[in-house]
Amino acid sequence: MSDERVTFGSKLGVIFASVGSAVGLGNIWRFPYETGQNGGAAFLLLYVLCVVLVGLPVMMSEFFIGRHSRKNAAGAFDVLAPKTKWNFIGYNGVAAAFLILGFYSVVAGWTLEYFFQALTGSLTGKTAADYAADFSSFNSGIFWPIFWTTTFIALTHIIISVGVQKGIERSSKIMMPMLFLFMIILCVRSVTLPDAEIGLSFLFKPDFSKINSSTVLSAMGQAFFSLSVGMGCLITYSSYFGKDTNLQKTAITVTVLDTLVAVLAGVIIFPAVFSFGIAPTAGPELVFITLPNVFQNLPMSALWSSIFYLLLAIAALTSTISLHEVATAYVHEEHGFTRKRAAFIVSFGVLVLGVISSLSFGLLKEYTVFGLNFFDLLDYATAKIMLPFGGLLVSVFVGWRIDRKILKAELTNQGTASFYFFTIYAFLLKYIAPIAIGLIFINELGLFKLLK
Ligand code: PFF
Repeated sequence: MSDERVTFGSKLGVIFASVGSAVGLGNIWRFPYETGQNGGAAFLLLYVLCVVLVGLPVMMSEFFIGRHSRKNAAGAFDVLAPKTKWNFIGYNGVAAAFLILGFYSVVAGWTLEYFFQALTGSLTGKTAADYAADFSSFNSGIFWPIFWTTTFIALTHIIISVGVQKGIERSSKIMMPMLFLFMIILCVRSVTLPDAEIGLSFLFKPDFSKINSSTVLSAMGQAFFSLSVGMGCLITYSSYFGKDTNLQKTAITVTVLDTLVAVLAGVIIFPAVFSFGIAPTAGPELVFITLPNVFQNLPMSALWSSIFYLLLAIAALTSTISLHEVATAYVHEEHGFTRKRAAFIVSFGVLVLGVISSLSFGLLKEYTVFGLNFFDLLDYATAKIMLPFGGLLVSVFVGWRIDRKILKAELTNQGTASFYFFTIYAFLLKYIAPIAIGLIFINELGLFKLLK
């Protein structure tokens, strides 16, 4: 039965689908505002450390779990560790996918609004203060933000219903290279703005006094979120990989491209932030108030900005389909619903969460938990708790429980593909990842203080 499982059609398809999942709003929307709120360059440094020392080994391990078991995120553990509680990792992941979609679809919806504003030319001819005011009047509204969130969930739903190969693979292949090209053009524009160097030194000259326990947790959360690890997304995708997919190369390519896009986004945003006098700590709206200023300074700004927001929406879409796939594959394979019905159940649930998240900027603003509105609560609970916790468990599971020979055989395609640095990988996985994540959690919970 498992050999009949669909696989991605080509090697490039594997890479594009995985990069498509990793590269998204996490890089272009979330990374800049987290960096802005956590002090700039010092955060970037911590982020890169988390990516290399923890994120990458966990990603390789998720690839192992998915391709070895050829099952969804929860079912995989019933194959690798039957009758144990390890499948909790999968349930945690499915729940995280669902909750992330609940706020991610809202931001994805904002990109559609900005795409239409750009297309109709209403995004030009304003001051930086106007952009800030316009954004907050838009996202605190009721009809349009909900309309766009719903549209985005519907788009995701359609692609998921069409299926893995045709839907996911094809859409990623064309759009990702285009997005990359566009970001390079925007970088050039941004670094040639007046006072660009202030932004660049904010991003690249670390001030270590800015590091505290919440910065470290934020950097780790951002690394997990951006790489799509810690929640079984890459377990699900790698269950569709072919036997000859080189897992190490795929993981390294995804990690390098993902990090590059985040840094490019930083290079676009921060020079503009300082050049136009926007506060780097503005939060979730940072990208939406900064970029229109950059576009405004380009010739044919309506054309550039509409193409950019369209590409951003597509980058978001290749991520939402990967999130949706985690939940849909689980409901379909573990609960016996048809794929179509499973997709409906997931989309409906996400829609409910999406509407509440969207309203939490306006109508439901007063309702907070631990000082966070519903949108921020979903973001915090997933990126800073569920994903790192999932990553911790994956590293313990693969590092301590899986037979080293089986692990190596799968990661090297039964000895036919190269896997350099296996010993370093195994060491990071077994010791560094769990200890680092564990300490960061304990520190943040205040049980034990290494950092203030
Ligand atoms: N990595 C995506 C981004 O950076 O936008 C978001 C994401 C997708 C997170 C899939 C988690 C996931 F499983």
